[in-house]
Amino acid sequence: MSRPNILATHPLFPEARKILDAACDVEYWSRPERPPRAEFLKQVAPKDGLICLLTEKIDKEALAAAPKLRIAANVAVGYDNITVPDCTARKVAVTNTPGVLDDTTADFAWTLLMAVARRIVEGEELARSGEWKGWNLDQLCGGDVWGKTLGLVGFGRIGRAVARRSLGFQMKVLYTDAIRAPETTEKELGARFVDMDTLLAQSDFVSLHVPMMAGTHHLMNADRLKKMKRTAYLINTARGPVVDNEALYQALKAGTIAGAALDVHEQEPKVHAGLASLKNTVLQPHLASASIETRTRMAVMAAENVVAFFAGKKPPNLLNPEVLG
Ligand code: DGY
Repeated sequence: MSRPNILATHPLFPEARKILDAACDVEYWSRPERPPRAEFLKQVAPKDGLICLLTEKIDKEALAAAPKLRIAANVAVGYDNITVPDCTARKVAVTNTPGVLDDTTADFAWTLLMAVARRIVEGEELARSGEWKGWNLDQLCGGDVWGKTLGLVGFGRIGRAVARRSLGFQMKVLYTDAIRAPETTEKELGARFVDMDTLLAQSDFVSLHVPMMAGTHHLMNADRLKKMKRTAYLINTARGPVVDNEALYQALKAGTIAGAALDVHEQEPKVHAGLASLKNTVLQPHLASASIETRTRMAVMAAENVVAFFAGKKPPNLLNPEVLG
């Protein structure tokens, strides 16, 4: 076969480009903004393969626009931007980037947890403002982290990496998941399996680590937020729609919970205006995996998936192996 034609919707990193360029003819989207939909559809139309980010929707429309497309390699572990069943029906392979971002994402969940509990953003603002009048006994007092109870909703690779980091903080760890972890894992991480209501009632920090799917949409709704302690904090590094942002805003305004730190938002790139107006929120623009090392590894993985596919091999991170049959 002649060299496959690939669209990469980002310039990627040199390490990934090297792998890709050696085996494929690649058109790289190089403008700083994400490709507008119409342009994306036009560019992908003649391509055999695609490397995309989570900002591109790969749905029936995109598949119809690209009749020759055989693989969509997402540079993300989450793939809710891709309608996998539609790809499978069209025999388009779909890949993602699992495993390489767990620790970096867990680091960031901890960054958010510490930031919201210890009021880092407010302190930063005060220190830079020129308004600081000096040390005071009750100045910007937050909540303790050490010795508290951490509740993990979702106990996959990232949830477990977050739990591992809590060991140094002498925390009690609760988790809930559709599947209970092996006893050895529970022991190693000092984590106790509980149902959702128990987790919400007992945790001082509730951190979300579930994938986005029909069953996790608004998993944290008004009812569940009400079940949290008034002194508890919510951390979301999973996907925005897992939390009903309006219900969270109402809960924070009413003082039903103490604070929230969100890396992901319900309608990215829009950030809920109410949440942005509150002092007890820490808001970030979807950065949890954003270290140079990790983002490079993610891009390399996507490139390797594409190259393997066109070399007639099974891509290492294939999500729909049915397409190979
Ligand atoms: C993912 O990979 O799904 C993250 O949200 C971006 O790293």
